[in-house]
Amino acid sequence: MAGTPESFDDGDLKRALGPWHLISLGIGCIIGAGIFVLTGHAAAGYAGPGVVISFAIAGLGCLFAGLCYSEYASMIPVAGSAYTYTYATMGRLLAWIIGWNLVLEYLAAASTVAVGWSGYFNNFLANSLGISVPQAFASAPIALTGFHAITATGAWFNLPAVALIGLITYVLIVGVKTSANFNNAMVIVKLTIVLVVIFGCFSYIVPANHIPFIPPNQGEVGQFGWTGVFRATGVIFFAYIGFDAVSVAAQEAKNPQRDIPLGMLGSLIICTILYMLMSYVLTGIAHYSTLNVAHPVSAAVEALPGTRWLAPFVNVGAIVGLASVVLVLLLAQSRVFYAMSKDGLIPHVFSTIHAKFRTPYKGNVVTGLFAALLAGLLPLDILGELVSIGTLAAFTIVCVGVMVLRVRAPLAHRPFRTPFVWFTAPAGVFMCVFMMVFLPMDTWLRLAAWTVIGLAIYFFYSVHHARPSRYTIANQPAE
Ligand code: ALA
Repeated sequence: MAGTPESFDDGDLKRALGPWHLISLGIGCIIGAGIFVLTGHAAAGYAGPGVVISFAIAGLGCLFAGLCYSEYASMIPVAGSAYTYTYATMGRLLAWIIGWNLVLEYLAAASTVAVGWSGYFNNFLANSLGISVPQAFASAPIALTGFHAITATGAWFNLPAVALIGLITYVLIVGVKTSANFNNAMVIVKLTIVLVVIFGCFSYIVPANHIPFIPPNQGEVGQFGWTGVFRATGVIFFAYIGFDAVSVAAQEAKNPQRDIPLGMLGSLIICTILYMLMSYVLTGIAHYSTLNVAHPVSAAVEALPGTRWLAPFVNVGAIVGLASVVLVLLLAQSRVFYAMSKDGLIPHVFSTIHAKFRTPYKGNVVTGLFAALLAGLLPLDILGELVSIGTLAAFTIVCVGVMVLRVRAPLAHRPFRTPFVWFTAPAGVFMCVFMMVFLPMDTWLRLAAWTVIGLAIYFFYSVHHARPSRYTIANQPAE
C-alpha cells in the first residue's frame, strides 16, 4: 500500500475544513493560559524582560518541530498526528508511547486550561456581576503545597471547569464544522483583544522597566541571567502547545497536503510575533517583579491610569481565549484516540462514528468525562508540569522520525518537504531536549511513572487487541 491520502483514509470523518479554518484552529489552541497566566511567572521569577527572548527561542524550537510535522502531515494526512506518523515509520510500540504522551499534551492540558479558565470566570462573575460561586464548587478538593505535600481545600469539585468541558464536549459531538465555526468566532475575539492590548499599551511603555533587559543572575542557575532566560523558555513553552493540533484534523481537511503545513506554520508564526510583542509590552508598562500574580495581563494594564480601561477587555479575552484552547485540545484528543482505536490499541468505543454528525461521539463523551474528572478533582499543578515534558518528548520523536523516513523511503512522495532537513530536524531535537533539560527533576520522575502506566496498559491490553498495521509508506514517487 502506498502512502497516498486515499490509502490511509477510511472515509469516516467529514472533510469540511479549509485553510483559514486550519490556521484558526492553530491560533485557537495556541493563545491561552500560556500568555495570559505563565508569562508573568516566567518574567518575575526567571527572566525579567528577557522573557521576550525566551518566547523567540521557544518559537524557533517549535518552528523546527513544525517543519518536520508538516512533512509527515502532508505524506500521511489522516487523523492521529504524531501517533500515526510514528506508527508508519517506527512501529507500534513507539507509536503507543507517543500516543500516550499526546494524552498528556491534549487531555491533561485541556484540564489544566479549564481550571485556569475557571479562575478567570469566577473572578469575572464576582467583579462584574457580583455573583460568587460557592466555595464548595469553586476549586478542586485537594491542592498541592510545595512539591510533595497535598492538602484538602474543603471544596468538593471545580464546577465551572467541569461545566466548560461538558459544554465543549457537546459542541464537538455536533460536528467538526460547528466546532470550527465556534472556534473561529472565539479566535477573532481573542486576537482582537491581544492586538488592542499591544497597540493600546505601546505608547505607555516606560523605558526604565526594560533596563537591564536581562537582569543579572542572582547566584543560582535559572534565577535571571541567561540561564534564567533558558529556564523561562521551558515554562512558557506551554504557550505554544497546540500548533500541532492542526495536524490531528488532517482527515477532516479538504486539501490536507497544502493546508495542514499552512495551518501549522501560519498559526505558529503569527503567535510567535504576538507573544514577543505582548511580553515586550507587559514588561514595559509594569516592572517585571510585579507580574507574579494569577492575572498578570490584567495586573499590568491596571498598573497605569492610561491603560486601566483595558482590564475588562483582558478578562473577556482570557475567558474566550482559554475556552477555545480547551475546545481544540479536546478535539485533538478525540482524534488521536480515534486513530489508536482504529488500530485496536484502545477499545472500539473511541472510533464509533455518529451516523448523522460523523464525529466520534462516544469517544468525545469518554474523553470529556476523563477531562472533567481531572479538571474537577485534581491539583493540576502536577499535570500542568507533565504536559510540557510529554509534548516535548513527542516533538523530539517526530523530528527523529522524519530523518528515519528520509533514509528508509527516500523516494516516497512528499508534497511538503522539510527544508534543509539534515539541519532542521537535528536542530528541532536539540531545542526540544534543551527545553526538557531545564524542567525540574520531579517532572522527569512523573514522566517516568506515566510511561510505566502506559506500558502496562500496552502489554496487558493493546498487544492482545492490535490489528495489523494500516500504515506502510512505499519508497516510490507518486504516479
Ligand atoms: N498553548 C495553550 C495555552 O497557552 C495550551 O493555553
